Amino acid sequence: MISPHGSPTLKPLLIEDAAERRALAAEAQRLPGIVTSSAAAANAVMLGSGYFTPMTGYMNVAEALRVAESMHTSGGLLWPVPIVNFVRADQVDATIRGAKRIALRDPNIAGNPVYAVMDVQAIEPVSADQRRVLVENTFRTTDPKHPGVEAFTAAGDVALSGPIRVLNFSYFPDEFPDTFRTAGQIREDIRSRGWNAVVAFQTRNPMHRAHEELCKMARDAVKADGVLIHMLLGRLKPGDIPAAVRDASIRKMVELYFPPNSVIVAGYGFDMLYAGPREAVLHAIFRQNCGCTHLIVGRDHAGVGNYYGPFDAQAIFDTIPRDALQIRIFRADHTAWSKKVNKVVMMRDYPDHTPDDYINLSGTRVRELLAAGQPLPPEFARPEVANILMAHYQAEARQAAR
Ligand code: ADX
Repeated sequence: MISPHGSPTLKPLLIEDAAERRALAAEAQRLPGIVTSSAAAANAVMLGSGYFTPMTGYMNVAEALRVAESMHTSGGLLWPVPIVNFVRADQVDATIRGAKRIALRDPNIAGNPVYAVMDVQAIEPVSADQRRVLVENTFRTTDPKHPGVEAFTAAGDVALSGPIRVLNFSYFPDEFPDTFRTAGQIREDIRSRGWNAVVAFQTRNPMHRAHEELCKMARDAVKADGVLIHMLLGRLKPGDIPAAVRDASIRKMVELYFPPNSVIVAGYGFDMLYAGPREAVLHAIFRQNCGCTHLIVGRDHAGVGNYYGPFDAQAIFDTIPRDALQIRIFRADHTAWSKKVNKVVMMRDYPDHTPDDYINLSGTRVRELLAAGQPLPPEFARPEVANILMAHYQAEARQAAR
């Protein structure tokens, strides 16, 4: 099986042993605690669940800058996005400043339970200049309206760094018991199915015909034994579809339109960064960690608005040394239903087509139709999938009308 990134074995930071975990949880109650940003908690979930192997905790400012600027750690490992725990200066009192070890508390659960314990290596202010370098390199913009930049900036300007030990996976296992999976669990699933080549599909959206066919095209092109449909379960920007609805619609599509036992549907606990190319590299790393040999990168992968060119998230892989990653990228062109050949195609394969030859609906148009209770064209969406989305949009519309 494909090795984890930069390590012969997975390195999940969750304390596996129940007695040890209880002891650490008890110790944590006596430690100075801090309620972190959602992004820092999501980093801990990814570290805890093995997806961020071989990282051991939050980066200090120098390391975060190095990663942002060079996409490599001081140890020479490919890593595209700083893993940081930034808090506001007013949260850092004398007990935190004096502590060797602190409890990290969950902003996303009532009562702010502890999710991890950090050995404090440094508590450092982040200057405006340093923040600009971090943001500009990670997001390719400093526009405060970019949702990733906004979340990054809102966290604060003091960096807490050091190795962590993780106590739990926040709200993900309770909220998504059938879908949240660790990297180790997915590896085990792949191993027990006897799959060798596995192609991963990253998604934060419901899947329509184009996405379904994209998975099938990639599967056939790389001769994969199976597909991992791997959805983001963490925070999104307003207007994106909630994870539970996406999950239900994706499972329906898999049940009805894929051969039995050819797809693993699973999710991971991370907040969307919308960092386009850099996030695509992160996506590749953590799919390698969960045992996949290929990752699909299509149009505007992990993008938002017009911040990235449609294929920037593919081009970034040309800048990475070939041996820095073992997972391979399946580069997909824009995919849509062709009225000429009556199937979903990749546009690069049909140079004779004009835009009018395709059925393409904008996200806004899809929302309008569904909220009005009108069906989506069957060439665009499977009716059973559209019905699940329609129920969601209509419930939302009813709520808004109240
Ligand atoms: S995201 O996390 O990458 O933002 P999204 O669910 O929108 O998630 O897309 C999932 C994957 O499908 C990405 O690799 C994206 O590039 C690709 N993709 C989505 N729509 C299309 C399309 N019409 N043509 C080609 N690739 C697409």
